[in-house]
Amino acid sequence: MRGEIISFEGIEGTGKSTQIQYLQQFLADQNIEAQTVREPGNTYIGERIRALLQNDAAADNMCPETELLLYEASRAQLIREFVAPRIAQGQWVIFDRFFDSSVAYQGAARGLSTEIVQILNDFAVQNYHPRLTFLLDIDVNTAFQRLQQRQTAKDRIEQESPDFFEKARQKYLEMATAKPKRFVILDGKLSSEDLAAVIREHVQKIFHF
Ligand code: TMP
Repeated sequence: MRGEIISFEGIEGTGKSTQIQYLQQFLADQNIEAQTVREPGNTYIGERIRALLQNDAAADNMCPETELLLYEASRAQLIREFVAPRIAQGQWVIFDRFFDSSVAYQGAARGLSTEIVQILNDFAVQNYHPRLTFLLDIDVNTAFQRLQQRQTAKDRIEQESPDFFEKARQKYLEMATAKPKRFVILDGKLSSEDLAAVIREHVQKIFHF
């Protein structure tokens, strides 16, 4: 049996990584082997692209078109090298961001054509789509406060303005409202335990266990 794909989306500081850890443990308790992947990254090529996209001061003049193509390049490699073989073996893959991020960030926030982003998304992912996408939603002020509390230096995208993240957030909400079968919108201000419980309930309902 083929494996399943679940993705987590949301602007920075929504607690995606914590929830992914909880979910991976829950799936393991059900004897489901799940791998977590982060976008961009997870392959040699993807991690090199991630460094260029996020933490290379010499790449500060990157134009939005290049940015989009780099995310898509990382994605295309991730799907073919890592995701496809595992799904074929029946493993599950949890995405810490997937193609919806490109629609929200490069489409809405950077202002590139959503149509082009979607065409490139399809080209990169083929038919590897999530059955379930959790959108962790918080307001931009809270997201910024959480970012300030982090010990690590801000990467290139994290240095963007509140307006940039507001556009990404609104696009996420728009996509989630348009595709209610795939998306679940969650209040990122809930405690991490409460969020984990709601996520477990949805996973059990959708995948029947
Ligand atoms: P993160 O892994 O720490 O969330 O960082 C990934 C960053 O890359 C985050 O700021 C969102 C951004 N991003 C995009 O702009 N477009 C994309 O397609 C993806 C996957 C991420």
